[in-house]
Amino acid sequence: MSTANRSSRSVSAPQGNARQPSRANPAGRIDAAHDPMRGAPVKLVQRAIRGALIAVSILGFGGCGTHRTAVTTAPVARSEVADLTADLAEDDSADVTPYLGELGATSFTTPARGTTLGGPLHGLDAGQLARFNEGRDEFMDEDDVDEGLGPVFNEASCVTCHNAPVGGTTGRVETRFGRAAAGGFDPMELYGGSLLQDHAIGEIPAGAGLFTYAPEVVPAEANVRAGRITTPLFGLGLVDAVPDATFLTLARLEARHTPWARGTANLVTEVSTGATRVGRFGWKAQVPTLHQFSGDAYLNEMGVTSPDFPNENCPQGDCSKLAFNPYPTLNNDGKAVDEFFDFMRLLGPPPRSDRSYFKQSGERVFARIGCTDCHTPALVTGESPVAALSRKQFFPYSDFLLHDMGALGDGIAQGRAGPREMRTAPLWGLGSRSLFLHDGRAKTVNDAILAHGGQGTTARARYYRLNPMSRAALLTFLRSL
Ligand code: HEC
Ligand code: HEC
Repeated sequence: MSTANRSSRSVSAPQGNARQPSRANPAGRIDAAHDPMRGAPVKLVQRAIRGALIAVSILGFGGCGTHRTAVTTAPVARSEVADLTADLAEDDSADVTPYLGELGATSFTTPARGTTLGGPLHGLDAGQLARFNEGRDEFMDEDDVDEGLGPVFNEASCVTCHNAPVGGTTGRVETRFGRAAAGGFDPMELYGGSLLQDHAIGEIPAGAGLFTYAPEVVPAEANVRAGRITTPLFGLGLVDAVPDATFLTLARLEARHTPWARGTANLVTEVSTGATRVGRFGWKAQVPTLHQFSGDAYLNEMGVTSPDFPNENCPQGDCSKLAFNPYPTLNNDGKAVDEFFDFMRLLGPPPRSDRSYFKQSGERVFARIGCTDCHTPALVTGESPVAALSRKQFFPYSDFLLHDMGALGDGIAQGRAGPREMRTAPLWGLGSRSLFLHDGRAKTVNDAILAHGGQGTTARARYYRLNPMSRAALLTFLRSL
């Protein structure tokens, strides 16, 4: 029993803590000259002229800043040109939704819409609405030991972490650990890694006495410890409905057009079929489908087994302790997993706030300084049995691919994601959140941007150099998504 458990853990642990080292990622690529203009020389000249005109007009009428002394006629460096044109965002040549056509949008593609934050997708039929509501109830349901909770777990219901409103995030941070060694990352499964379960069911009757299940702790042997904040789930049915091929196409487009920031797909195993799929869920894109994440979370967050994830987590990696498991048979027949899936799949994307001229200026700054290289504004879903999800355009502001983020990486490897690689965080719904980055270290969006390293270094540097007006426009735009 315990052997079976252990050997199957590489499947049932939160997606494949494979030990492959990160793909080679030469530092040179990060520094590769990044042409902010991406356009023809003609455009560059036009921008320089426009930039100079804007600068003159600011100095002329603005009356702002006597510290901005001279207008020089010396040739301006490209980056300065970008800053000047960014000024009043007169520039309209930045493509604010790159690759839309290549990713499958046609003139018939309509945008997917939500209703309210936490509400269902717009355009569901009565049956779908009923499934959304039933799924939401199950998602909010607290399990107890009789229903299979534990022996070790993180919380007793999905909503404890995914709330405010239901399906969002309470900012709950969980812990991952492992060992970085010469041969690569070791998720320390024999110690219960890489995901720590910080709750346990405590004392239970065992024979004539009692057995105590204790929460897991980070073992002394671990030299990597990382926090992961709960992500909101709004709109994820749309992400689920994007064909694998779209992400592979996107990776190819990035390699061709923005090689310094190119992303890679995390190829992982779909547990129900054994197929290799494009991972897209989780901070490392370590899970390929929303249905799989439902079963994975039920087991790894709550300790409840179900058909695709039939083996309990061994407390602190010690499978002999499962001998006292009060509920050793399959805990759930899969119905609850289907219900979580229904709720999450039909949960609408975060509604965007009204557009304004200022926000649109910010949107162009976002594109011009290279944020869209990874935070792909729009994607298109494939065919789906749910009409509200079928061939829809939506705006997650992510390519869902992995990028080398340098020191910002969390040190954990999962699937093909190396220790320094993270999935581009989607930016929709940013305005309703207060903690940012994978471990919630950033209290403001500004801090989150300034923490970008690795492939994000160039964009961060350009953000840093923006004048206050452009920066304000950009931040206002981000908070409106
Ligand atoms: C203890 C807190 C906690 C509980 C309980 C919890 N989650 Fe999560 N959830 C998280 C965290 C943290 C992440 C990010 C995980 C990662 O990337 O490793 C996450 C991520 C997810 C994602 C991926 C979202 C994305 O952006 O890609 C889905 C889907 C999800 N959870 C569903 C569920 C479901 C369904 C349940 C209940 C069965 C559940 N979660 C219970 C904390 C929790
Ligand atoms: C090379 C790819 C890349 C580029 C370029 C990039 N980002 Fe990111 N961004 C990421 C990744 C990956 C994360 C997640 C990092 C983490 O949490 O460890 C992220 C996270 C963020 C977050 C935090 C989101 C959250 O959910 O916590 C914000 C805000 C953000 N980026 C804004 C920007 C802006 C603005 C720009 C342009 C100046 C930019 N990014 C450029 C890849 C990129």
